[in-house]
Amino acid sequence: MTVPRIGAAAAWRDAARELLSRGTPPEHVTWGDDAMARGLFDETPASVQPSEIRVHRSFVSVANSVVWHNDPQRFSRLYHMLWRLQSQPWLIGDRGDPAMAKLRAMEKNVHRCQHKMKAFVRFREIGEPAAPRRSFAAWFEPTHHTVEPTARFFQRRFGDMDWRILTPDVSVFCEGGTLRFDTDRPKPDLPDDAHEDLWVTYFRNIFNPARLKVQAMQSEMPKKYWKNMPEAASIPELISTAPARARAMAQAAPTLPPARMAQVQAMQRRNLSSWGGPISDLPAAIHSCSRCPLHVAATQAVPGEGPTTADLVIVGEQPGDQEDLRGKPFVGPAGQVFDEAAKRAGLDRSTVYITNAVKHFKFVPRGKRRIHQRPNVSEIEHCAWWLDAELKLVSPRLVLAMGTVAAKALTGSEANVSNRRGTVERGRLGSAVLITYHPSYILRLSDKAKRKQAMADLQDDLRLAVQEAEDLDGPNRPDH
Ligand code: URA
Repeated sequence: MTVPRIGAAAAWRDAARELLSRGTPPEHVTWGDDAMARGLFDETPASVQPSEIRVHRSFVSVANSVVWHNDPQRFSRLYHMLWRLQSQPWLIGDRGDPAMAKLRAMEKNVHRCQHKMKAFVRFREIGEPAAPRRSFAAWFEPTHHTVEPTARFFQRRFGDMDWRILTPDVSVFCEGGTLRFDTDRPKPDLPDDAHEDLWVTYFRNIFNPARLKVQAMQSEMPKKYWKNMPEAASIPELISTAPARARAMAQAAPTLPPARMAQVQAMQRRNLSSWGGPISDLPAAIHSCSRCPLHVAATQAVPGEGPTTADLVIVGEQPGDQEDLRGKPFVGPAGQVFDEAAKRAGLDRSTVYITNAVKHFKFVPRGKRRIHQRPNVSEIEHCAWWLDAELKLVSPRLVLAMGTVAAKALTGSEANVSNRRGTVERGRLGSAVLITYHPSYILRLSDKAKRKQAMADLQDDLRLAVQEAEDLDGPNRPDH
């Protein structure tokens, strides 16, 4: 059975399918590429009924690579395996089967060869200066027959120019965006490339003598490719001078960071510091916040609300749709659940300071609706700047964290709130933090009994918060 060098994958597939449907066992087929033609196929009488051919998707993928391997037995190995798979389909995943393992190893070799081709082909410009499209040519000597399966990569990369890659085996030409393959082209005499110096300079610059690992470098860039790569001529010299250069680098004074680094450091210092204005300025400062991208889509930042002398601070997640529009915390559906629970727990909302861990509404638009998105850790940590300022200025006896985001912002821990609720933890800044459910969590519970229980738990926790805030010794509150 002869498989042509060009289009080998499709040709082998068609032939194998045909042989299989005729019930031709592997030992009755001699495979070869178009250099060694002996076609048993044509001599086999078509007496066998076409049977149902089973081909696992993963085998198709292995075969599509292995057909490009340089092993002369590749087609035969593949057909043997295809034949066995018909009655033993599990072999496809059997790592202990030597024939399957061999095919997997061959697949790997081909992939590696394709990778090398993508990395080490070096084009030289060959077209006329006045030509409408620029033309490039490269000479390359791949280990396997990888020109054809790799050609599309170059076609995508260099769509606006004509190019060709010539090899001792199959060569590829891309003209006007169309690929064409040919065989047995002689090695061309290619001009030196004007960009060659650039390659060399680039390579010399990225070469770090302090990190030289000759073996690793040669396994990544095998010596057989060097002769067609302009930059490779520098390698022996770079290797031999590396130790001296590395010593010189170690002895040299450290380089100073660029000027831009000073700006970055200043920004980091600002972010690590805390807000330092008087309490009366805090709402306005929060209002004008643009410290993270959330401010772009939101209507406004929503600062906390309530007496700044409160013993209890209640922290939610972030403003919702209603809060974003009205500029006040907990005035939408979650606010109604909170108000109801507070009423039942005997908590007067006007006596507490109520705020959120994140000050801007984070959402994605869907039609006319804005769908709430939970803030990520970086947004929570960034916005803790404002929460910390609020806590410092109010300096309550107790902080009530409603939900995971508030608990994360206040304690640094994202652990499950269901396991923590009703307990008092130590906050990041030393304050006492009582954990409870977020009212939205209760709203989302579809099971009536569970919703009722969660509402009762929230009430209990609010009741506990009022008591604890009365009982606990508060931190220093200078102007209380
Ligand atoms: N959810 C919150 O966490 N805060 C609000 O202000 C509204 C809904």
